[in-house]
Amino acid sequence: MNSNINVAIDGPAGAGKSTVAKLLAAKLSFVYIDTGAMYRALTWKAKEDNVDYHDEVSLTKLLEKMDLELKYEQGGVKIILGGKDITEAVRSPEVTNNVSYVARHARIRDYMVMKQQELAAKGKTVMDGRDIGTAVLPEAAVKFFLTASVQERAERRYLEQTEKGIESDIELLKEEISKRDRLDTERKTAPLKKADDALEIDTTNMSIDEVVERLLTITQEQMEAYE
Ligand code: CDP
Ligand code: CDP
Repeated sequence: MNSNINVAIDGPAGAGKSTVAKLLAAKLSFVYIDTGAMYRALTWKAKEDNVDYHDEVSLTKLLEKMDLELKYEQGGVKIILGGKDITEAVRSPEVTNNVSYVARHARIRDYMVMKQQELAAKGKTVMDGRDIGTAVLPEAAVKFFLTASVQERAERRYLEQTEKGIESDIELLKEEISKRDRLDTERKTAPLKKADDALEIDTTNMSIDEVVERLLTITQEQMEAYE
């Protein structure tokens, strides 16, 4: 098998990217790379250090000295910053509602993309985010663009919150998701966009297993074509 194969998965919030990317990576024995976690970690650190989410220069300085480690363990990714486990903290509403402001800055994106390309240089990764097929890995062997209706994505987040014992509200979640989609789609640098050669899959009525099976079949077909 050609070992320089990467799988790019993009799409809006709640489309199921990280869930299926993790499972697909495990089935392929590839490494899963969660690029959203990198933007979330920077947003969390900015809040900790009182750096303005709109201050590109200060955010870039903060990012360059950030000691971030993504630890891939069975069943998930641990986000370690300066030795501290911030896996749960980066999922807070504060981070979720502000990460798209931090991710808008061109200098931040340049740095993140460079790091992400380093991580994928040897191939055999499944990487998910917003600009993987378009900017980070334009040469990826396989590209998917996952979508689902806003209603479905909000319901998925609602269930997720309920399972964690957190009270939430579907209408509010719909608003937050739509706002983040808008910011991610309309930003100047590497906006959320389907790559021309990505396969779009609407997962609204699909189970996680169905999506994973579909992605696995397509990836295996593409991998054979690469051999
Ligand atoms: O899991 P969820 O879809 O809620 O978000 P995420 O993948 O953790 O990404 C959080 C945010 O980071 C997104 O809304 C984008 O603003 C930003 N992001 C990005 O700009 N580019 C990426 N490759 C990944 C995430
Ligand atoms: O990474 P992204 O924001 O695209 O979505 P996610 O965090 O992987 O998935 C959001 C929620 O939807 C999770 O709780 C998944 O278990 C769930 N999900 C689902 O119910 N059906 C799918 N086909 C995919 C994900």
